Amino acid sequence: MIRAAVIGHPVDHSLSPLIHNHWIGRYGLTGAYDRRDIASANLAAGIGELSRAGYAGFNVTVPHKQAVMALCTHIDDDARAVGAVNTVRIENGKLSGGNTDAFGFIENLRAQAGPGPWRVLILGAGGAARAAAHALQTAGSSDIVIANRTLENAKTLAAQRKTAFVPWEEITGTLPSRTLIVNTTVCGMTGQPPLAIDITALPDDAVVYDIVYKPLVTDLLARARQRGLRTVTGLGMLLQQARPAFAAWFGVMPEIDETLLQKVTEAAS
Ligand code: ATR
Repeated sequence: MIRAAVIGHPVDHSLSPLIHNHWIGRYGLTGAYDRRDIASANLAAGIGELSRAGYAGFNVTVPHKQAVMALCTHIDDDARAVGAVNTVRIENGKLSGGNTDAFGFIENLRAQAGPGPWRVLILGAGGAARAAAHALQTAGSSDIVIANRTLENAKTLAAQRKTAFVPWEEITGTLPSRTLIVNTTVCGMTGQPPLAIDITALPDDAVVYDIVYKPLVTDLLARARQRGLRTVTGLGMLLQQARPAFAAWFGVMPEIDETLLQKVTEAAS
């Protein structure tokens, strides 16, 4: 019996149990994937319980993606570059931390829009932007501009990733030279303000990628489609990032089938 879980606080919203349990069933494995609500003050104790209970590992979601790093004895290159751990393997009581968000980001882009390289504008400068920049650079896109509401944060990320940056107010001027724009901000998510950016100046062959998946088609993606641009939705990133995590614990690299896509689409809407 192989066990894994997602830990976070809150963790009710996580779609990971649905995804991993689907694959456990599909591949006929003896296993289970559950969720554990662990508050920050109890992080080490909560993980200790999973370890003693024989768990193969766990996913990490808000707010523990950075804090868990201090508890890991090994951290892989992607997690180090992204500065966050979202996947942990437990081996002999020791924690090995990885990050599959960069993989998920780039696999989803490849599957929905092709291999690139791209001339990129990244909107946002948080953890998701860092994962996107790392993934794009690793995959060969070196021309990246970062724009963020708080300019200081754009500058900091641009210095870390060795990219360019522009003030939020100057986004429009960068659009004609971009072949890919990526929204990594929370804007456009249900309950958040929309992303108030005019994308008219993008070239006709540009791709618009929104990592927000609730709603499935954000206002930004709807406007891009109206303009005839290719779009990449965020749900695929969620599914793709789960694949290497599942492989790490259950030993099978799973595929995203139609049934899974339907289940997750329903759960996210
Ligand atoms: P994550 O780790 O998921 O990327 P985060 O670190 O909280 O989350 O980053 C959220 C991003 O959304 C940030 O780039 C934030 O911009 P600031 O650095 O200025 O905070 C951006 N963001 C949040 N609300 C926004 C808004 N109303 N308009 C534009 N950007 C916004």
